Amino acid sequence: MKVGQPEKFIIDGKRLDGRAVDELRPLKIKAGVLKRADGSAYLEWGGNKVIAACYGPREVHPKHMMRPDRAVLRTYYNMAPFSVIDRKRPGPDRRSQEISLVTRQALEPVVLTNLYPRTAIDIFIEILQAQAGTRCTGITAASVALADAGIPMKSLVPACAAGKVDGEIVLDLFDIEDNFGSADLPVAIIPKTGEVTLLQMDGNLKGDEFERAFKLAVEGCYQVYEKQKEALIEKYGGGD
Ligand code: CDP
Repeated sequence: MKVGQPEKFIIDGKRLDGRAVDELRPLKIKAGVLKRADGSAYLEWGGNKVIAACYGPREVHPKHMMRPDRAVLRTYYNMAPFSVIDRKRPGPDRRSQEISLVTRQALEPVVLTNLYPRTAIDIFIEILQAQAGTRCTGITAASVALADAGIPMKSLVPACAAGKVDGEIVLDLFDIEDNFGSADLPVAIIPKTGEVTLLQMDGNLKGDEFERAFKLAVEGCYQVYEKQKEALIEKYGGGD
């Protein structure tokens, strides 16, 4: 057993942070929190605290990135040095590059980039505090920031993970479960069509466990989607 690993993750049906196996961590979303950005969002999701800022459509620099038929969507995921227990070295690393890439790929299918040729839409995701699941938190925040910036999109993109601890499939891992559990499966979807725009997996699952974890993560995405819509309705009023 690794240092810090709990003997059990689920005791009398409750997880170590008191949640049921299919329960999300508390999630609060606020749209429009930064004056200088065209659109922004602040999320608290369990112990994750994340800001997303969206700029654009705007001029593309460097110019060679410009596309004649569409806007380029660029995503920058960054973890603050103070966001984790061991200070994180400032600046980009392989992990942040990978998460920036999958975040862009998760969002690109919904953004109507063809409406803004020769421009850039930039999204900055700053992790202020991390407690596992920051890529899902970032994607969820980024799509609210895009909507807040008035960028035309087919849909919001909610994201949520499921995983496995103590042989059980659970929703939305927090850090102890993520560090010492057996699997983590982050998923992002386009709710209206059910299309999947992010699917990654750490650890190992049997086929039927994978299916159950995937289904649970998708259910989590739909719960997150409701919160995204509430945040936009709170700022702008109106319906769906
Ligand atoms: O955050 P996410 O689950 O999307 O990505 P991960 O690479 O699986 O990281 C899981 C968690 O490990 C993060 O959310 C942080 O809580 C923690 N972490 C850390 O403590 N120090 C790092 N340099 C990177 C991650």
